[in-house]
Amino acid sequence: MSIVQSLSGRVAIVTGGARGIGLSIVEELHRHGASVVIADSGVSIAGADPDPSVAAAIAAKLGANTVAFCEDLTIAGAAERTVQSAVKAFGAIDIVINNAAILRDSFIFRASRENWDQVIATNLSVPFALLAAATPLMREQQKNGRAPGRIVNIVSSAGLFGNFGQAAYASAKAGLVGLTRVVAMDMSRSRVTCNAIAPFAATRVTESIQPANDAQSAYKQRALQIPAHYVARLATFLSSNAHDLTGQLFGVRGRELLLFSQPRPVARTLMSAGADWDEAALARAIDGELTAGMTDLSTDLEFFNTEPIV
Ligand SMILES: NC(=O)c1ccc[n+]([C@@H]2O[C@H](COP(=O)([O-])OP(=O)(O)OC[C@H]3O[C@@H](n4cnc5c(N)ncnc54)[C@H](O)[C@@H]3O)[C@@H](O)[C@H]2O)c1
Repeated sequence: MSIVQSLSGRVAIVTGGARGIGLSIVEELHRHGASVVIADSGVSIAGADPDPSVAAAIAAKLGANTVAFCEDLTIAGAAERTVQSAVKAFGAIDIVINNAAILRDSFIFRASRENWDQVIATNLSVPFALLAAATPLMREQQKNGRAPGRIVNIVSSAGLFGNFGQAAYASAKAGLVGLTRVVAMDMSRSRVTCNAIAPFAATRVTESIQPANDAQSAYKQRALQIPAHYVARLATFLSSNAHDLTGQLFGVRGRELLLFSQPRPVARTLMSAGADWDEAALARAIDGELTAGMTDLSTDLEFFNTEPIV
């Protein structure tokens, strides 16, 4: 595999591109020559108080080959308008980075439907809408001889392990893993790739963690040491045509590059022919091979409990 080629002439949309990991990805893509639509409404971590000046300031700072798109991406038609703004400004759409997300945590027994809906809308329905709007054009461009497009979805280890109080966030991110797989399949004939990255990085979100115990406090201190540019480097590589990897789930934690497994059956037992699936038979079957293959209830925070390598 060759090194990342110049992205000169390639056109990217980065959602949530005005802060944190998204901003780091915007800077890295732009540094490699890509034109970038910074799609960010400048909201709080919980998705409130929009501020269009946040994305506008980044576009002004980076200058040539960037535009800010400041609409709330959850509004009907905003995803389509983001794609139109890329085409209007730069004539094509080659790279989509689904990075924008919000957090509204609460234990399931205190959760509200309104918060669930807003988190699913932002973290899962926006990526769907953006890909539904961008992929027809990406297919058309590839048929007309343009190098195939690249899609990167920013997921979270919370969606793979689960985490206390993150029903909506973890469900949306797990959904985004499923979307990554299907988009990789649906776009394979057009040679457009779609991969996911579970990032670990110091951002305003990490800073906002209110530790409830020593383990969480240690997690926060470790997370605050990890610069976001490592995530940006991998996202940029996956946005280039230096590879044809697709449908994969990566993790980046400082200098650690991880590949996650994807759920497949890990144990199998066969009931004897004619046997009823009664309680005793099920208990016997589960107690054997299946018990050995079961997954414990550790959170992502408990699993990644070592010092980051930065
Ligand atoms: N920071 C970490 O360690 C970490 C860990 C796991 C996953 N992630 C994921 O990485 C991504 C970036 O996280 P971050 O920590 O940089 O977050 P952040 O809050 O610093 O940045 C997110 C950006 O998305 C924008 N945004 C949110 N909702 C929007 C909407 N409806 N329309 C337009 N823009 C919107 C916000 O304005 C903000 O600028 C997210 O997908 C997050 O879930 C981060």
